[in-house]
Amino acid sequence: MNELKDRVAVITGGASGIGLATAQRFADEGMHLVLADIEAAALESAADALRSKGVDVLVRRTDVMSEESVNALADAAFDHFGTVHIVFNNAGVAATAATLRSRAWEGSLADWEWTMGVNFMGVLYGVRAFVPRMLANGDEGHIVNTASVAGLLTAANPYNVSKHGVVCLTEGMYLDFKEMDSPLSASVVCPGLINTKIMEAERNRPSDLGRSADLTEQRPDVQQFATMFVAALKEGYGPEVVADHVVDGIRSDRFYILPSQEELLARVDQRFQGLLDRRNPTPRDGRPLTSDR
Ligand SMILES: NC(=O)c1ccc[n+]([C@@H]2O[C@H](COP(=O)([O-])OP(=O)(O)OC[C@H]3O[C@@H](n4cnc5c(N)ncnc54)[C@H](O)[C@@H]3O)[C@@H](O)[C@H]2O)c1
Repeated sequence: MNELKDRVAVITGGASGIGLATAQRFADEGMHLVLADIEAAALESAADALRSKGVDVLVRRTDVMSEESVNALADAAFDHFGTVHIVFNNAGVAATAATLRSRAWEGSLADWEWTMGVNFMGVLYGVRAFVPRMLANGDEGHIVNTASVAGLLTAANPYNVSKHGVVCLTEGMYLDFKEMDSPLSASVVCPGLINTKIMEAERNRPSDLGRSADLTEQRPDVQQFATMFVAALKEGYGPEVVADHVVDGIRSDRFYILPSQEELLARVDQRFQGLLDRRNPTPRDGRPLTSDR
């Protein structure tokens, strides 16, 4: 999809970070926007800045964990603009940095419910709310789903598992669109370390869900990892780098959009190569496994 001017893009998680930077990039291309986020105040101030670029911006407070809320977003978008060309299913959360090192049998089940609810079900609801209407309209279009490099690397935590689901879902959709000879296409974005507010995601945690368990007492390695991880994110790429990759990926119909540090992609390479060589997973510290010694 090469021509973006005067076309319509819907962005979830559009009030901050990668979503907001991509909204700015789309507005610079002359696209009209439907901006969705759970944070109403941040959404309004983002929309004001975007309108100053001379594009039409519809704002809709949306909780992507709720199918009803995402369907209402789609209704509002089609009512206002008549059509939609790009859907960027991008809203996402990570509980605390420590949960990225939690084991599946530790931690709180609430972290799984919240993370899977936003990161995976939120994307699925977006696909199911928009794709049938986009297919019926017959216009050219593109679905872009945000996963992560965490969706290409393994760990038994809610974040990685949710992002693996997004990669699988989107890859299957891409194949479906091509097999249908559809004017729609799909891409998955797998960012590496990006300097955003993702580690402050707890600000949006539903109050009726339980909190994360504090693992640091039994697992001092978890605290060490969390401190290091938060510092590494601050040193990460700016979200505008991801936005540039997204626009380029849509224009060139590139499925895997990988705005990531090379050292993370090297681990992806190691994983897939190891899998094909029938090697057991490489430990996170890079030491060989017992069975490989
Ligand atoms: N920052 C990174 O290093 C990184 C790396 C890989 C992938 N990602 C992914 O990028 C996406 C964007 O995250 P970001 O880094 O820009 O973080 P961010 O916290 O700056 O932005 C995320 C946005 O999603 C919104 N959101 C949270 N829960 C929501 C809900 N239930 N409904 C609607 N909106 C909701 C937040 O309010 C926020 O505006 C996420 O899917 C994240 O998992 C981020």
